[in-house]
This record gives sequence, C-alpha cells and structure tokens, in this order.
Amino acid sequence: MLIVANWKAYVDDFAKAKKLFALAKRLTSKDIRVVLAPPAPLLGTLATRNKSNVAFAAQDVSLTAGGALTGEVTAGAYAAAGATYAIIGHSERRAAGDTDAIVAEKIVQALSHGLTPILCVGETERDGEGKYLSVVREGLTLALSPLTQKERAEVIIAYEPLWAIGKTAAAAIGPSDLSEMALYIRKVLSELLSGKNSARSLVLYGGSVEPENARALTEHSGIDGFLVGHASVEPDTFSLLVKQLA
Ligand code: PGA
Repeated sequence: MLIVANWKAYVDDFAKAKKLFALAKRLTSKDIRVVLAPPAPLLGTLATRNKSNVAFAAQDVSLTAGGALTGEVTAGAYAAAGATYAIIGHSERRAAGDTDAIVAEKIVQALSHGLTPILCVGETERDGEGKYLSVVREGLTLALSPLTQKERAEVIIAYEPLWAIGKTAAAAIGPSDLSEMALYIRKVLSELLSGKNSARSLVLYGGSVEPENARALTEHSGIDGFLVGHASVEPDTFSLLVKQLA
C-alpha cells in the first residue's frame, strides 16, 4: 500500500516537518510505503540526506526545463533535492491554471528527471448520467497519450474527485463508488497501455481520507493506496490512519 502525504501549504515550520518525517519513518513497513510531499524548501531540507525508506514527492514541477523563470522549480531541482516522485495535475494546481496540455508537459519533465509522476484526475461533481466517467477518461487520455508505452507504465494514477477534497470522512466517496471507479480507471488504462502494463499501474484515491474511512475504502475497492491531504499533517491523525491499513 502506497500512502502519499500531500502537505500542501499546511506546514511551514521545520520542527513540525521533522516530527512528521520521523513519524513517517516509524510508520513505514514492508506493507506500507510512505511518500511525503512537503513544500519545496522543507523537502530540500529533509530529503537531501535521506537514507530512510520514506520517499519524497514534489507537489508540482515546472513545465519548463528551466531558464529565466523566477519562482519556477524544475523537476531537475526536485530530483537534485532528493525527490523521487512528483504530484502532477492536482486540482488545486489545475484551479491555478494547469490545463491538460500543461499537465502532459509536466509529466514529461518529471519523467525526464527520474521522478515517478502521480497524475491526479477527478470530476468536479457527480451527475446522474455518468458524465463524470468521461471527465476521468479524458483526464487520463490527454495526459498519457503523448507518452511512450514505457513512460505510460510508470505513471501512478490518483483519483481525486474535487467534491470530496478537504472535507471529512463523511463527505468522502463510499467504498462501492470507489471500487466502481477503480475498475473504470483500470479499463481506460487497459486501452491506453499495452499488454499487462495496465494491470501493474498503481491507482490511488485522494479526497478526505481520514482514520474513520481509510480501512473501509481499501477493502474490496482494488485501489493501491491513498493521497492524503489534511489528515497527513496532524501526527496523531496520520499515525491512526496508517495504522488502520497495516
Ligand atoms: P484532503 O486532500 O485529504 O485534505 O481531502 C486530498 C488531496 O487534495 O490531495
């Protein structure tokens, strides 16, 4: 099971970052792999000399390879700082202007610096006619189509319905809807990836995963892990959440 802790902009002090890192090391086991996605400067401080089993993810990368671009952080800079994953296309980045074309470029940048992309897709709302399925299909297709088969096989998918982000477990998706979506994502992946590769792709869920719903969401849903936001930055809550899955 892969647990990606997306700290977003919740953490801005080094003492707390160190505490969460120490906790992640304790929670990592043969069944649980923890990936931390701190804000860039904190990632740099924690990941540079990291020798633990905890891995680090960029929360986003520049769509460029660098240059005269004040404020941009390239995939190369993240890789040099010790990141090995990159969250790409998170809805909060899409809201800030990332289009599907930009998301596709960012995936290429991440891959070219050895970062495993975690591609976020998800609908804004659920409708009765199944339009949300087309939204997810389109997100996957536009992001993966420009890639080679080998590259497509490296991308981790995070299904993040916007309506379920930043709420509580009660407002998150239910296990049966999640299992339906996980099946659908695997079907779309089987059309985009050749051979057995789609069966090997990891599919995560994100959106108000808390200690209260984590276990129910994994049982029979066919997902490989979670992208956790607010519940990943409170040590006691995160610890409880991960322990539900161990
Ligand atoms: P949340 O965020 O767990 O706070 O809902 C999930 C995410 O956006 O990655």
